Amino acid sequence: MRKPIIAGNWKMNKTPAEAAQLVTDLIPLVKDAACDVVVCTPAVCFAAVSEAIKGTNIKLGAQNVHFEAKGAFTGELSADMLKASGCEYVIIGHSERRQYFGETDKTVNLRTVAAVKAGLKAIVCVGEMKDEREAGYTDILVTYQTQMALHGLTAEELDNVVVAYEPVWAIGTGLTATDEQANETIGVIRKAIAAQFGEEAAAKIRIQYGGSMKGRNVKGLMAQPEIDGGLIGGASLKAADFAQVVNF
Ligand code: PGA
Repeated sequence: MRKPIIAGNWKMNKTPAEAAQLVTDLIPLVKDAACDVVVCTPAVCFAAVSEAIKGTNIKLGAQNVHFEAKGAFTGELSADMLKASGCEYVIIGHSERRQYFGETDKTVNLRTVAAVKAGLKAIVCVGEMKDEREAGYTDILVTYQTQMALHGLTAEELDNVVVAYEPVWAIGTGLTATDEQANETIGVIRKAIAAQFGEEAAAKIRIQYGGSMKGRNVKGLMAQPEIDGGLIGGASLKAADFAQVVNF
């Protein structure tokens, strides 16, 4: 009942010209995809990519959004600016932003609420570090991160939210959570959403796995009942690699 969603997180890669080339190569490869297909590009690529994907099944996303509508926030972009630039989605609270740019559960919440209220679809990232998993805190942590991120939204507004479970130790490392580990923790996230918004909202919301997901492991992960898609870093930077994931 939940339509899978595969999103590429390009991170800080690709110039506008390179971005246009990548999506142009991607279009024919994913045109028959059974899932939603999203590319989250650097902001400088929005114009080139939104032009190239016109009339296709590929959607554009951003990698961050500010929570204020406008004002003295040097270097930031508002939800309305993203929408006006062709973005339908935005990644919020990626672990790299939490680790390197001072993102907290509080600011993840502010950004998520601002994005959804402005009409964007939020891809909200949660996930534990290696030492937190080893110490047995994964479930408590992802429950807290998820409930805090979604605080202040209504159950209806969850239609415009995707959660991405990304164990930090699996990002860019080549280490993937096992299919069972990923499924189990995503089940914990779904329970956290059920406690906060009710069973129906929890059954409807899409929860992705992210962390070294690629052509080689996508099938096993997507066969798990709780996993509704992927947030793909490294394997989203080449059209053929990303298409392999999309066409799992
Ligand atoms: P990766 O990145 O696929 O390169 O591990 C995933 C992510 O950070 O979203």
